[in-house]
Amino acid sequence: MKNLVCLISGRGSNLAALLAAARDERWPDALGARVAAVISNRPQAPGLQVAAAAGVPTAVVAHAEHDSRASFEAALAAAIDAHMPALVVLAGFMRVLTREFVIRYAGRLINVHPSLLPSFPGLATHRQALAAGVRVHGATVHFVSPEVDRGAIIGQAVVPVLGDDSEEALAARVLAQEHLLLPRCVRRVLDGSVQLVDGRLQLAAGCDRDLILAGW
Ligand code: GRF
Repeated sequence: MKNLVCLISGRGSNLAALLAAARDERWPDALGARVAAVISNRPQAPGLQVAAAAGVPTAVVAHAEHDSRASFEAALAAAIDAHMPALVVLAGFMRVLTREFVIRYAGRLINVHPSLLPSFPGLATHRQALAAGVRVHGATVHFVSPEVDRGAIIGQAVVPVLGDDSEEALAARVLAQEHLLLPRCVRRVLDGSVQLVDGRLQLAAGCDRDLILAGW
C-alpha cells in the first residue's frame, strides 16, 4: 500500500476533499493508496478534526515549540518518515520549507497554491489578483521545488474574475476548484501518469497532455 501523508495548518477543506475522493473512488483498491496520516504545525488546526472524523491518524509538530527552522523540520521529517510515504501533500500547509527539506522529498512532495502560478506566489493571492486587474485567476497543484511556489506544474484550474468581486467571493470561487483539482493531481502522481524528472514534469505514455479545469 502506498502511503500518503498530508500536512496542514488550518481549516482542512482541501484535506476533506482529498479524503472524500479517496473514499468515493476507493483509492486503496483502485490505486493501492491510502491517506496514512495528517500532520499539522498548529495544534488548534480544525483540519485535525476533519482527519479524526475520517479515522485517519493525526500528529502535531508545532513550529512554535522549536527555536530553529532546522529543529522544526527535523521533527517534522521524523513524523512524516514514520509512515514511509510514497507522497507528501501540502494541503494548506503555511510554512516555508528549506531547500534541505524539499530535496529530501524531491519528486514526492506536492502543494496546492491558490493562484495560476507563476503569477501571484506567496500570500494574499486573491488580493494580488484583484489589484492586478487580471480577468482570470485560479489554482495550481505543483511539485515542490526549493524556490517557493515555482515547482513543476501538475495541473491548473481557471476561474473568471468578475467585475464586482470581493476578495472573499474570488477566494471561494478558487477554493471550489482547488477541491476538484487537488485529488485529481494526487491521483495522477499515485497512478504514475506524471512524475518529476530533472525538475520537469514527465508524462507517462498514453497520458493526455494537460490537466486543466475550467470553473465557469
Ligand atoms: C487553500 O487556499 C490553499 O491553497 C492555501 O491555503 C488554503 C488552505 O485552505 N495554501 P484549507 O485549509 O485547505 O481549507
